[in-house]
Amino acid sequence: MLSERERTLIKSIWERLTPVAEDIGSEALLRMFVTYPGTKTYFSHLDISQRSPHLLSHGKKIVLAIAEGARDISRLTVTLGPLQSLHAYKLRIDPSNFKLLSHCLLVTLACHLGEEFTPVAHAAIDKYLSAFSAVLAEKYR
Ligand code: HEM
Repeated sequence: MLSERERTLIKSIWERLTPVAEDIGSEALLRMFVTYPGTKTYFSHLDISQRSPHLLSHGKKIVLAIAEGARDISRLTVTLGPLQSLHAYKLRIDPSNFKLLSHCLLVTLACHLGEEFTPVAHAAIDKYLSAFSAVLAEKYR
């Protein structure tokens, strides 16, 4: 569980990343596609090459969804309701993939936050992304 301090930290980190959502999200996606090529199969209808308009716009959507969830972590299940259904029922994403993207987001944040990526921030971001992924994976059970 995230402590009150961690929740505040997470909220401020993702708020600050919102203006560069496109960069952060597209880099994380690209990292996922290169590191775990199997994930590309879900995106065969899009151009996912580096800095392509699709990659940038999809990256932005992902980061904005994560930032929105961070605004009130206690309501994550409610906020993510539509995304849960989309990924489980419509897109049928194998839930094991959520961990892969989360890891790539974590690495991307480590690169962008520099000194702000303290051990405390690392732990909080990791916990939040795990919680987020767990909620996205809930509908499969
Ligand atoms: C669509 C967020 C994980 C595959 C979306 C959308 C958002 C989103 C916001 C757009 C929804 C809309 O247009 O209404 C997230 C977040 C994730 C995550 C926050 C995890 C932290 C994944 C993973 C995969 C995936 C792991 C597959 C490996 C897709 C696909 C679409 C989509 C294929 C539709 C793309 C399109 O056709 O435009 N996701 N997603 N997502 N997501 Fe995810």
